[in-house]
Amino acid sequence: MAESMKGLKRTCRCAELSVANVGQEVTVMGWVAKQRNKGGIIFVDMRDRSGILQVIFEESDCGSEHFEKAAGIRSEYVIAVTGMVEKRSGAVNENLKTGEIEVRAKSIRVLSESETPPFPVEADSKTKEEIRLKYRYLDLRRPDIQEKMMLRSKIATTMRAFMAEEGFIEIETPILCKSTPEGARDYLVPSRVHQGSFYALPQSPQLYKQLLMCSGYDRYFQIAKCFRDEDLRADRQPEFTQADMELSFVDVEDVLDVNERLIQRVCKEAIGLEVKLPLPRITWQEAMDRYGSDKPDTRFGMELVDVSEVVKDCGFGVFTGALENGGSVRGLNVKGQGAMPRKKIDALVDMAKGSGAKGLAYLCIGEDGTIKSSFTKFLTEEQVTDLIRAMGGENGDLLLFAADKNNIVWGVLGQLRLELGKQLGLYDPNQFNFLWVTEFPLLEWSDEENRFMAMHHPFTMPMEEDWQYIDSDPGRVRAKAYDIVLNGVELGGGSVRIHQDDIQEKMFEVLGFTKERAWEQFGFLLTAFKYGVPPHAGLAYGLDRFVMLLTHADSIREVIAFPKVKDASCLMTQAPGEVDETQLEELGIQITPVMEEE
Ligand code: AMO
Ligand code: AMP
Repeated sequence: MAESMKGLKRTCRCAELSVANVGQEVTVMGWVAKQRNKGGIIFVDMRDRSGILQVIFEESDCGSEHFEKAAGIRSEYVIAVTGMVEKRSGAVNENLKTGEIEVRAKSIRVLSESETPPFPVEADSKTKEEIRLKYRYLDLRRPDIQEKMMLRSKIATTMRAFMAEEGFIEIETPILCKSTPEGARDYLVPSRVHQGSFYALPQSPQLYKQLLMCSGYDRYFQIAKCFRDEDLRADRQPEFTQADMELSFVDVEDVLDVNERLIQRVCKEAIGLEVKLPLPRITWQEAMDRYGSDKPDTRFGMELVDVSEVVKDCGFGVFTGALENGGSVRGLNVKGQGAMPRKKIDALVDMAKGSGAKGLAYLCIGEDGTIKSSFTKFLTEEQVTDLIRAMGGENGDLLLFAADKNNIVWGVLGQLRLELGKQLGLYDPNQFNFLWVTEFPLLEWSDEENRFMAMHHPFTMPMEEDWQYIDSDPGRVRAKAYDIVLNGVELGGGSVRIHQDDIQEKMFEVLGFTKERAWEQFGFLLTAFKYGVPPHAGLAYGLDRFVMLLTHADSIREVIAFPKVKDASCLMTQAPGEVDETQLEELGIQITPVMEEE
């Protein structure tokens, strides 16, 4: 039977007690983590979000009525206990914050009972994620998840405080927006009043924050929900949170400066990590050349080496063919792995093929210098020696090579580098390596669309010195765009924006927009820019990713209170769900049944 709170007041949380409170009478409330009845004495582990506290019941202290009540409680009952804080009578429990004390109960109230939970509420759960997410409210009771959620709150609070100190103003932007393609697919919301018309949920507050700069707010900040209908991965959710900012009268340096200090503050306050400034920087080109990735994990080396020059005249058609097609040949030196079994090498080759390679050439150097290779038969002895030297190869090393268009070679070797780094334990998982990647290309060619696409978004400012190539060689133009990377994950990104209409018009032209379409979609922004627009720039963090990395979570789902799973559904509420016929009628929507394919 559930009892009331009448006349009771909680004095503190369970694990806020310590030896300093010995001799005090306290009232604590929380969930039963464990109850052990040893006959004349009952031990109860009580849990709330602060941690666990041991309570002991003896009939001589609490009387028979309360003792019997304590004998009847089970896991996840919600109880209130009043009693005296004492030093532990038994051994100190080193694993508990409250391990030196216990509360000797005078009284207990059962505030609510619990059915047997579908899985044990405990840290490091072995229960399948599907079950945990179905009962997410119970999962969220688990101490390790609670710690992550509380850290998330602390990170957000720290960000807000820092941004306020720096003169940023928090402004909310709409969730019901206009659909603006480019980027990911939009989530659409049908309008009842304007049947046949749709709002789109924001993929980011990008356009609004630029308009706020036009309005003179000069430093804007928001912790904003964003929505993108894209394929989910371990670090992607259909709705996620950005810590979003925009600044006026600034250039790249100003944005990086304030963000470095923000990162330093957040890391210090959230996890006590000292981040040294300035953060390292690398251009996009250098990141691709050295790591095969625009978000390099710099916790370990094993960098890519371009051997195109060395092999350009060799007899191996795979290499020379790639070079003739404007591609490159690059390699990885996997130190000390020259004796890797053939089976494992084959797995690497398969992996390379999985990421788009036609193949992966290998060269094993034995401890005695003997060479086993898939391609050296096509090379002269001198060419082999030159190649090994170029790769810094020594006895006992494994050299891997990919030959193809640059994008493929980077992708394949970048992926292999990460995989081998993980397999071979080349980095310290507790290290935090922040890195700025700057000077991204403005445009990237899309084979699918047969046109250039904006690499960041269409409002990103080109670098002044490259603008001259916009007609002759658009792919060569670099942008004033930057990403902040942490341990190989893109934590955030941003850019300086275009504020001159001639550049913006040209940009739309290069992206294949007609003037009409550009105006139809972005007219409000282009008009706003006609009334005095300050130069401006900004950046947005994926807050969920930031929390995920700082808490060493395996997936973004662990740091989101109510996440979606791979097919974008919610296992707890069953969203998305069907709606009433009347709701559809009001919206003027008819559902066409999908024919099941045979
Ligand atoms: P961008 O698209 O790079 O930039 O997004 C910024 C950051 O948001 C995070 N992020 C995601 N996190 C979880 N799930 C997702 N599906 C997801 N998509 C993105 C990433 C990313 O770095 N308006 C620009 C920013 C700007 O230019 O100021 C923008 O949205 O960590
Ligand atoms: P093949 O002549 O096709 O048997 O290839 C000889 C070796 O070159 C094999 O180890 C292939 O995996 C490898 N190889 C094939 N294509 C490529 C490529 N594009 N880049 C690197 N190695 C390749």
